Amino acid sequence: MTHWTSYWRSGQALSSFAEGEAAFGYPDDVLQVWQQIWTELPEQAEVLDVGTGNGALAVAMAQYSANTAKSWQITGIDLADIKPASDIPQVAALQALLQQIAFFGNCGIEKTPFKDEQFDGIYSQFGLEYANWNASLQELHRICKPGGQVIALLHSCESELSQDCALGISILSHCLQQSPLVTLAEQLLTRSEFLLHHKQSIATDEPFQQLNQALLTEVKALQQRYSTGNAAIWFQDVLSRLAPLVHQLQPGNLQRFQHSFAQLEQHRLRLLDQQKATIDQTKSNEIMALARHYGWKVTMRSVELDAGPFAMRLELSKSL
Ligand SMILES: C[S@@+](CC[C@H](N)C(=O)[O-])C[C@H]1O[C@@H](n2cnc3c(N)ncnc32)[C@H](O)[C@@H]1O
Repeated sequence: MTHWTSYWRSGQALSSFAEGEAAFGYPDDVLQVWQQIWTELPEQAEVLDVGTGNGALAVAMAQYSANTAKSWQITGIDLADIKPASDIPQVAALQALLQQIAFFGNCGIEKTPFKDEQFDGIYSQFGLEYANWNASLQELHRICKPGGQVIALLHSCESELSQDCALGISILSHCLQQSPLVTLAEQLLTRSEFLLHHKQSIATDEPFQQLNQALLTEVKALQQRYSTGNAAIWFQDVLSRLAPLVHQLQPGNLQRFQHSFAQLEQHRLRLLDQQKATIDQTKSNEIMALARHYGWKVTMRSVELDAGPFAMRLELSKSL
C-alpha cells in the first residue's frame, strides 16, 4: 500500500488515470457518464466514493451537487494514507470542493467506520475492484440504505487502459529487473562520484569509459526493442530519468538515480495491482453471483466511450 500512499501524497494528481489538466478531474466524457448516474439522487443525500485516491470522483460529486443546487454530504475512503485537502496544490476552486468532503485514509472498503444504512449512493471509479470482493460486497450492503445503490466503473480487460497497463508492466519489469541497465547505471554513477570526489579525470578513466560503453550498448538495444508506439513512450519514461544524470555528471547523481528508479518501481507495483484488479468474463460472473448471494440486485455491462471500451459498469441495488 506504500506505493499508493506515496503516489497520492506526492500531490501530483487527483486521479491516477488522467494527465495534464485532467489530472485535476476526469475527462468530460467520463464525467458525463457519472453525471447521468447522479441525476436520480435526491436533493439531500449521503454519498460515498470508495477507493477515492486523491478524490477525483468525490470532487466531481461535490461539483455536481453545487451545480444542481443539491446539498449532498460527501465522503471518500481509501486504504492508502490519503490527505487530499492538504496535499493537492492550492488551486482555490479545487480546495473549496476538497474542504467539503470528509476523507478517511487507511480505510479499506472491507471494514468501514460507518453506520448501518448510512449512504443513499456509493460510487467508485477504478477503486472497488482493488478490494476483497467477498468482504466488500457484505460491508457495502450493511452501509447502503434500503433502496440505495452502488455503482462502480471497473477496469475492463478489453480497455485500452488495461492493454497499456500490461505493456507497461512488461517493459518496466524488463528494464528494472532483467536488463543490466540499472546495475550498469549504478556502477557508472558510483565511479563518477568517486572520480569527482577525488578530482580525477573522467575522460581518461578506463573503468568509467568501459562502463559508459556497456551502458550505451544496452540503451541502444532497448531503444531498438521498444522503438514504436506505446512501447516507445514507456521506454522514453525510463530513459528520461537516466539520460540527464549521465550526460551531466555531478555529485549526488547516484542518489538522484536511485530515488527516481525507486519511483519507477512503485509505478510498476501500481500497474501490477491494476492488472490484478481487471475484470474479465469469468471474474464478472463470480462477482455477480457473490453479489446476489449477499442480497444485491445486480447488473454488469460494458461502458463504451468514443475511444472504445472503457470500463465495466457494476450496478448493485438494495431492495426496500
Ligand atoms: C487506481 S486507484 C483509483 C483512485 C481513484 N478512484 C481515481 O479514479 O483516481 C485505486 C485506489 O484503490 C485503493 N485501494 C486499494 N485497495 C483498497 C481497499 N481494500 N479499500 C479501499 N481502497 C483501496 C488504492 O489505494 C488506490 O488509491
